[in-house]
Amino acid sequence: MSKTARVRGIEIAYDDSAGAGAPVVLLHGFPFNRSLWREQAAALGAAHRFVTPDLRGHGGTTVTGGRATMEAMAEDVAALLDELGLNRVVLGGLSMGGYVALAFYRLFPERVRALVLADTRPQADDDKARQTREETAQRALREGMGVIVESMLPKMLAPATLEGEPHVVSRMREMMLGTEPEGAAAALRGMAVRRDQTDLLERIKVPTLIVVGAEDAITPPKDSGTMHALISGSLMNVIAGAGHVSNVERPAEFNRALAEFLEALPHEQGATP
Ligand code: MLT
Repeated sequence: MSKTARVRGIEIAYDDSAGAGAPVVLLHGFPFNRSLWREQAAALGAAHRFVTPDLRGHGGTTVTGGRATMEAMAEDVAALLDELGLNRVVLGGLSMGGYVALAFYRLFPERVRALVLADTRPQADDDKARQTREETAQRALREGMGVIVESMLPKMLAPATLEGEPHVVSRMREMMLGTEPEGAAAALRGMAVRRDQTDLLERIKVPTLIVVGAEDAITPPKDSGTMHALISGSLMNVIAGAGHVSNVERPAEFNRALAEFLEALPHEQGATP
């Protein structure tokens, strides 16, 4: 069910599957929106309560200019959880959503029951990446989202998806073109200044599932391997044939890994249902 909440001076659009189980909050990547999780909500949203917000500047959530930091987005998510009366949740994110999930864990570890880190990485940008982000932000503001589609789309999907699944290619293109250039620029500038989260990994004490497409060229399996090595007890699932949006490119495999992980989580005493 599509809803909105007014928190921290912005309107957050989100879907709530209202499923019977414990809450699972999934954060989309850049420059997508909550529809990224369509297949997950459809398959698992009855057994679990899936809450999928549009992050600041994306989808139906207010566009704020300047710089949308990962911490600001994490604070938005925490405020949404307050609105929904959810104290502790399973928190997952793909790519930029994973950066936000890690920022959230650093800020509010007690609110995270388990983590799902999909096609993401812990490290910060280097100087060259920062400069490219600023140039891309300026070009997107001048020329529109086509600039980002052209540079990201060929790297984003596995060759088999690009060649054999035109509906996935056009869905991703439409999702990116639907994002406001101002929202995308703010997120690019926020990602450019995100902190290195590597030191946090050894302090993560909740069950963690790491998922990555075997052909992810943006946040490659090596980055997931680093997280897997440093997060004690974490599980890692490499999905064959998938690129950077493994949940969209290989939904059956992604959903299986997610469902098994959620079902194996220990029950919490006195948890918010
Ligand atoms: C994403 O998919 O969220 C972005 O590719 C992340 C990034 O640009 O670092």
